[in-house]
Amino acid sequence: MDNELIKGRITAVRGTVCDITFDDLNNGELPEIYHLLEVNDPDYTGSNSSNGQTTLPPLKMEVLSHLGDNTVRALALGNTFMLGRAMEVTYKKHQLRFPVNVTGRMFNTMGDTIDGFGEEYQILDDKYAVKKVTHYGSSPSTSSNTSEQHIIRHEIIQDPPEFKDISQSTELLHTYIKVVDVICPIAKGSKVGFFGGAGTGKTVFIKEMINTLTEKEQCKTIFAGVGERTREGAELWEEFTALHNQKIEDAVKKDSSASPEENGIMHNLSFIFGQMNEPPGIRFRTAHSAVRVAEYFRDQENSGGKNNVMLFIDNIFRFVQAGSEVSTLLGRIPSSVGYQPTLEMEIGDLQERICSTKNGSITSIQAVYVPADDMTDPAPTAIFAHLESKIVLNRDIAAKALYPAVDILDSGSNLISKINESFADSVIQHYASENDGMYSNEVMKLLLLRQEIIVKKVKELLSKDKELEKIINLLGIDQLTPEQKITHSRAIALKYFFTQPFEVSKKFSGQEGQRVPIWGSLFGSLALCVHDAIGNFDDKQLLFLKDIGGLYESYSNEKYVQKKEALENKEFKAFIESLKEPMTNVQKVTEWIGMIRG
Ligand SMILES: Nc1ncnc2c1ncn2[C@@H]1O[C@H](COP(=O)(O)OP(=O)(O)OP(=O)(O)O)[C@@H](O)[C@H]1O
Ligand SMILES: [Mg+2]
Repeated sequence: MDNELIKGRITAVRGTVCDITFDDLNNGELPEIYHLLEVNDPDYTGSNSSNGQTTLPPLKMEVLSHLGDNTVRALALGNTFMLGRAMEVTYKKHQLRFPVNVTGRMFNTMGDTIDGFGEEYQILDDKYAVKKVTHYGSSPSTSSNTSEQHIIRHEIIQDPPEFKDISQSTELLHTYIKVVDVICPIAKGSKVGFFGGAGTGKTVFIKEMINTLTEKEQCKTIFAGVGERTREGAELWEEFTALHNQKIEDAVKKDSSASPEENGIMHNLSFIFGQMNEPPGIRFRTAHSAVRVAEYFRDQENSGGKNNVMLFIDNIFRFVQAGSEVSTLLGRIPSSVGYQPTLEMEIGDLQERICSTKNGSITSIQAVYVPADDMTDPAPTAIFAHLESKIVLNRDIAAKALYPAVDILDSGSNLISKINESFADSVIQHYASENDGMYSNEVMKLLLLRQEIIVKKVKELLSKDKELEKIINLLGIDQLTPEQKITHSRAIALKYFFTQPFEVSKKFSGQEGQRVPIWGSLFGSLALCVHDAIGNFDDKQLLFLKDIGGLYESYSNEKYVQKKEALENKEFKAFIESLKEPMTNVQKVTEWIGMIRG
């Protein structure tokens, strides 16, 4: 009985929404909600046309509501312009199934590979484990060799884990980006949003995070491109395959027996795209497909220990937008500012699935487009409610070319208040190999334990400076009291210090990327908040703090050579040099912390 095909016919087509009537149903059972229907009519696919027209693959549709009279309303997951009434539709008896265990490839929402790589293995069947797939960079000899793997497909819509299975972590995800690690540190297994209007640097930020984290964390990483530019998807694939080959080449140069498994990155990466040109049903489901893959890797057995997964989404706002288009096509009455009435539920259903359990963690980093730079818009507000850290990118800061353009006063993380002894110990232990002996363990621990106070001071200085800037704009800098002048200098120094050239932005900035360990970032922030010398410098000298790595580290690292003009100022040079000693002097750092405690 189960194998018997249930067939219906199209009775209405409205954009990408169709009504389908099933005349002869067994037991009167209609196709289930979220299950797929398929149109394979030659008039749709064009397979019987003789005019050389390209043929379309069979059209999949997803059942979204039951209308009565044996009729369902479904959303087309593909092109509908050749669709017409009376075409035959087959009920598939399952949801959209996505290949969950394949990495090193780029997929569309339906689970077909779209990277043009190993085309002969394109996955066309939608049963569970049927075909083998070639994937990138897991062979021992060269990067472009491939290995085969059986694919597993899973239905993409799932319930979130049960309350009792959810676990929270306070382990640091070290990003080596100063402003992130200090102001809005990210916990492994938490959700982070990069909020910002158009062109403020969200995509660049996400690329830098993937670049650093795939290398440092060596965990499964999924990138979902939701409703953004198709060009960006192609660029991302190219950049990451090139980076993969480069990393292997470098490793092999150093040591000819180096294994691509350990040095490449593609075997850990999976890309899923539903970009701007796709119909709304597809863009809406891209996020679900990606989350399903993340869940699979999190819950995967026999990996020995906890599975850590990273899920990047660019851009989650486009998911909301696709949901809104679907809602309008279904004829629902919109709610506030024209969004779908089901806004909160749609975001909740997706975000609640992105969580950490006893089996493993999913750390999710999401770009959130902010319409008209208005953070009170219902979509960013609803998304924010689910996130543990918020990083807000600001157009005015970007306009001054202070990248990453993070608005420090608006950004924050709930991890800061959870920092304790065991957190500090685990960071030091985990990243021990990163410390090149410049900082003593006591100093590193103290800085980590006092992060909350340092952040508070940084924010206080910046918010005071916001007021001072109004005075400066109206009356000029000479109207500030000496004390106010120092506050203003410190604020400028901090703003410059929190800029950082990214590896992925080298092509626009021409500067080498810098990675700064968290203790270096904390030390620099603290020093700029308290050091007496800061008051002696003007904007021009302080400008040399822009786009460097750690404070003293950059100076001693030759990269600072580019900045030698700053060091021609003896006082400035003395200031930088004076920072070496406190890096191992816990009394000095304790004293500094005492000063900002106030
Ligand atoms: N860290 C950076 N360093 C140098 N330039 C940057 C940086 N971040 C962003 N930019 C500049 O800003 C431009 C836009 O950045 P990006 O594409 O990341 O914006 P976006 O926020 O993703 O925009 P959209 O909402 O349109 O997708 C980049 O092309 C680059 O010129
Ligand atoms: Mg972008």
